[in-house]
Amino acid sequence: MISPGSSIWNPAGKLRLDRLWRRGCDLLGSDCAILGGAMTWVSEHTLVSAISNSGGFGVIASGAMTPGELDVEIGRTLACTDKPFGVNIIIMHPDLDALIDVCGRRGVSHIVLAGGLPGRASIHRIKSFGTKAIAFAPALVVARKLVRAGIDALIIEGMEAGGHTGPVSTGVLAQEILPEVKEVPVFVAGGIGRGEGIAMYLEMGAAGCQLGTRFVCATESIAHPEFKKAFIRGHARDAVLSVQVDPEFSVIPVRALANAATKRFAATQHDVIARYRSSELSQTQAQLEIEHFWAGALRRAILDGDVENGSLMAGQSVGMVTKEHSVAEIIDELMEQATAALGDDTKDLSALSKRSLMEVASAV
Ligand SMILES: Cc1cc2nc3c(=O)[nH]c(=O)nc-3n(C[C@H](O)[C@H](O)[C@H](O)COP(=O)(O)O)c2cc1C
Repeated sequence: MISPGSSIWNPAGKLRLDRLWRRGCDLLGSDCAILGGAMTWVSEHTLVSAISNSGGFGVIASGAMTPGELDVEIGRTLACTDKPFGVNIIIMHPDLDALIDVCGRRGVSHIVLAGGLPGRASIHRIKSFGTKAIAFAPALVVARKLVRAGIDALIIEGMEAGGHTGPVSTGVLAQEILPEVKEVPVFVAGGIGRGEGIAMYLEMGAAGCQLGTRFVCATESIAHPEFKKAFIRGHARDAVLSVQVDPEFSVIPVRALANAATKRFAATQHDVIARYRSSELSQTQAQLEIEHFWAGALRRAILDGDVENGSLMAGQSVGMVTKEHSVAEIIDELMEQATAALGDDTKDLSALSKRSLMEVASAV
């Protein structure tokens, strides 16, 4: 059972928190229903096991891995923790089935399917190993479809999130989906930086929350010191969406800290589109050139520390990343904030209205 580190957890708030996220904790098998969102190149065994060992739920990012590499990474994670953790798999991965099979053979308890709407076959393949299948629902209609397909839990992720993101904000998705979907636990992600935010979504019916950006600067994160410095310097407004300059040439929406590469990307699009208009490039060639601009850019920033030419994927919650500290300290702080918010009876509307009625009564 998780216990406070250096902080103080409000006892009444802790009781309420335990009640609110019990379904999420039961689904994940963790003390806290806080998922460490998978981040390509960052979410490897060190960070993932640190999150799980601190009471949260770590998730390996397999986006850039072959099935063999994933097998090794799961083995390393198992060597660092006996707590449950998950594996995030991008559904467009050419070896999707093989990646699922590696997780199944290794006894991984949860797979998070990302990057689109997974097919029934993938969900069934995951469940045939006794592994739980989790997927992202960017709209209510998709959530309902996934529930019918047998998904065990959903994540709703708003556009405040770091990395690839949808067009709708977390607050709107939460209001649209949380009151409607009761069949499976729903976790909320995107723009969550503090425990009060977690408490708010739990009060709205969420089973738990997923945070990515807050864990980038953990001591256990292997992100390059320059990448971490950029996060500590960054403000919410610096984490911007990739810009598309022409409606004919699509750009995948990605939220990242603005840098020299961001400016060059807009210039590159103008240049490539001009070459297409002068018939130097076909439309397909032009689209490909635009898509290739960011190839390898995340790795360059996270592992090599090239923060000007790489991609600094970050959510708007980056403004709440103020220093490097351990995963245990981050989770302890989130718990302190969440329990304080939930234990504060001045925020209890029934208590408030009773008090103000008494104040009115004694004033007349
Ligand atoms: C650097 C970075 C890399 C990410 N890579 C992935 C990924 O590979 N797969 C995925 O599903 N989500 C990815 N995400 C999204 C996170 O898993 C998480 O859902 C998101 O960070 C939550 O929003 P927040 O950044 O506001 O906390 C990434 C986010 C960041 C910041």
